[in-house]
Amino acid sequence: MKILAIETSCDETGIAVLEFAPLGTEPNLNKPKILFSVLSSQVDIHAKTAGIVPEIASRIHSEILPHFLIQVDQKIGLGNVDYIATTSSPGLLGSLLVGNNFSRMLSFLYNKPILAVDHIMGHFYSSFVKLPLNKIEFPALGLIVSGGHTALILATAKNKFKIIGGTRDDAAGEAFDKVARLLNLSYPGGPAISQAAAKIKNSPFKFTTPMLKSNDFDFSFSGLKTQVRQTVEKITSNCHPEQSEEAQPASSYKMDKKIRPVKSSLPEESMRLSNMVKSQIAFAAQTAIVDSLVKKSFSATTKYHPKTFILGGGVAANQLLREKLITELSVIMPKNKIFIPELKYATDNAAMIAIASYMGLPKNITAWDKLETSSSSNL
Ligand code: KG4
Ligand code: ZN
Repeated sequence: MKILAIETSCDETGIAVLEFAPLGTEPNLNKPKILFSVLSSQVDIHAKTAGIVPEIASRIHSEILPHFLIQVDQKIGLGNVDYIATTSSPGLLGSLLVGNNFSRMLSFLYNKPILAVDHIMGHFYSSFVKLPLNKIEFPALGLIVSGGHTALILATAKNKFKIIGGTRDDAAGEAFDKVARLLNLSYPGGPAISQAAAKIKNSPFKFTTPMLKSNDFDFSFSGLKTQVRQTVEKITSNCHPEQSEEAQPASSYKMDKKIRPVKSSLPEESMRLSNMVKSQIAFAAQTAIVDSLVKKSFSATTKYHPKTFILGGGVAANQLLREKLITELSVIMPKNKIFIPELKYATDNAAMIAIASYMGLPKNITAWDKLETSSSSNL
């Protein structure tokens, strides 16, 4: 069974064709086979504005998709696939609509049903792009951390999901992006923060690990952003740039209850920070975000005893998170039941959408004129 998957929910245009064992083949030991996969990222374009401009994102998707589809047609034949999978939620509405409209057209022209996929489910299954799908044992617990979402998801069966924790404000990836912006580092912020942090082994700064004491599985990252902002304001209003080259003890930057408003706006102000101080703040912020994600994952695993733990989403590319999660969780569950996606499948791609669409069968089969596009998740 061949599935053509289209991903356009944000700033990556992806198309993949995967071959799966026919449904009902039990036990399904077959690994999905990637027959075709292309991905085009708009990151360089959006880096110029330090964030995504939605209209530009949609425009680029609509320019690239026809070229990719011609390639699929030449290699596989558009009429030779069995289903058209498409990310129908959540994401930037305009971007989703571009992918969904191409999918509707293909479905109509070739008389192939559409499989509607929630992007979060794509991330949930992204570790299994190259693995036999029966490696997923239920109940499975997933930590999905991307630019738009942060959720702990409990799957009790293939199509039965419950969100047991989410973010109360910013998503984890958004926190990385916002901290990077405050430090005047490049977009997207996650890789920039981890590269800056990797230059040092320790930091004199310490930010509070968010939601450590809350008695639930929720996250919150807006307070961390405020701590970083106040720290930057404090340093830049007190120090000359030459002086900030030298590390100061954490205590010397303790939050001042009455921090006076700073006239110049960040991140211009943060240009005055030395690279060393940027690394130190990046290190401390990354530690706080990762610790919060790992601690909540650990508590949820202790409570729900999943047979499989799954990490997914762009933030899953973070090396510190990957390492800490395995170290902590392997104390309470077998290491080979913890699944972390290959780096290239952690961030947005179409192969993961194909896997999620296969796992969602037959519930997700949709006629071309019944497909609903939504900027928010239906989970
Ligand atoms: O899943 P994704 O590609 O797109 C969304 O669905 O949002 O995730 C993008 C997010 C961005 O916020 C980016 O900063 C973050 O993933 N990210 C990282 C890393 N690589 C990407 N965050 C932390 N560390 C990384 N290495
Ligand atoms: Zn994503």
